[in-house]
Amino acid sequence: MIIGILNSGGDCPGINAVIEGYVSAAYRRGWRVIGFHDGFEGLLPVAGGRRYEILTPNKTHKIRAYGGTILGTTNTGNFKVHVNKVGRASIDREIMSKAKKTITALGLQALAVIGGGGSAKTAQLLSAEGLPVISIPKTINNDLCAASDYTFGFQSAVSVVSESIDRIRTTANAHQRMMVVEVMGDHSGWIALHGGISSAADVVLIPEIEYKLENVVECIKMRKAAGQREIIVVVAEGARLNGELITVRNRENGEERLGGIGNRLSRILEEMTGIETRYCVLGHTQRGGTPCPFDRVLGIRFGVEAVNRIAEKDFGKSLVLRGHKVDTVTIDEAVAHPRFVEPTSHIVNTARDLGIIFGDRSVAELQSEHKKACAAKSCKKKKTTK
Ligand code: F6P
Repeated sequence: MIIGILNSGGDCPGINAVIEGYVSAAYRRGWRVIGFHDGFEGLLPVAGGRRYEILTPNKTHKIRAYGGTILGTTNTGNFKVHVNKVGRASIDREIMSKAKKTITALGLQALAVIGGGGSAKTAQLLSAEGLPVISIPKTINNDLCAASDYTFGFQSAVSVVSESIDRIRTTANAHQRMMVVEVMGDHSGWIALHGGISSAADVVLIPEIEYKLENVVECIKMRKAAGQREIIVVVAEGARLNGELITVRNRENGEERLGGIGNRLSRILEEMTGIETRYCVLGHTQRGGTPCPFDRVLGIRFGVEAVNRIAEKDFGKSLVLRGHKVDTVTIDEAVAHPRFVEPTSHIVNTARDLGIIFGDRSVAELQSEHKKACAAKSCKKKKTTK
């Protein structure tokens, strides 16, 4: 049996672990593995060469510890999914037929696609064409398919945020400054929320919770008045500023990406609070580097499980993590809903209980909520002691 693997879209820590798990499990069954280079582009013929290689356990042993991907990747290229006016998704027909030809010519009996939302949509279209595809979700943003508790890459990114803020805090403290730290996450606030909780940020601004600048400023001033030396504000790249999404334009191709809110927000907050403020964009440091142990283990589990599912001919599915179990859902289900932070969830309430400010309540509102919560607790205590 010959099976293929590729990864597409932005890289993330843990992809190499998936590849290692996949190759190792396949070879134990006596199968061979072809790895395609630079995403789906590897499926297209190139004059005078090829864009794939045979992957063996010798080549992939211990790559679980490396960031990036040994196969290379791209988040641009020929496999862009077009959606028409009635919501029908498609890929250029000629591109699709070239990809199918490669798969048939190589005698591939399965293709694993490691990817985020966009790549899973391409995988879904290949599967709809009758190709034996299995999808493996990856992204540092953790915003994929509500069915999966975590995607690998996320914990590594949060570790970078947490460690960076620990460093930023010492210099902020020394200078009695406010630091605004911009983090990735696309349109979700998972990285900001987990990074903010783990590093004891004062303010966390995320796309899922609408905030008012006046509320943020009022809370910051109160902390300063209480004698706090440094203020840490974590802002997700997809959070809005006065209702506006902040983007940067790529000079080469004119494409727009989220980013820039850290800079803008720091200037506004400095002016409104009178506190000397600096900003720091953590950017691609969150995506690069060594995967943390959780992401290595999850990546390996996904790689091995993909092979098990292929053995059962369980195609058109996406792997997901549910609790401690690796399971599958259809790719359709996996791409149906992105995963956003739920504003009334346990994790958000925990952050609120810790005193993290989301900017959706004024100081007076926070104080009255606190009083009510204390009254409810002491009432409960009285009842139980009676
Ligand atoms: O991987 C997801 C993501 O990191 C987003 O959070 C971010 O906006 C984007 O990718 C950046 O992608 P690029 O590599 O094109 O700059």
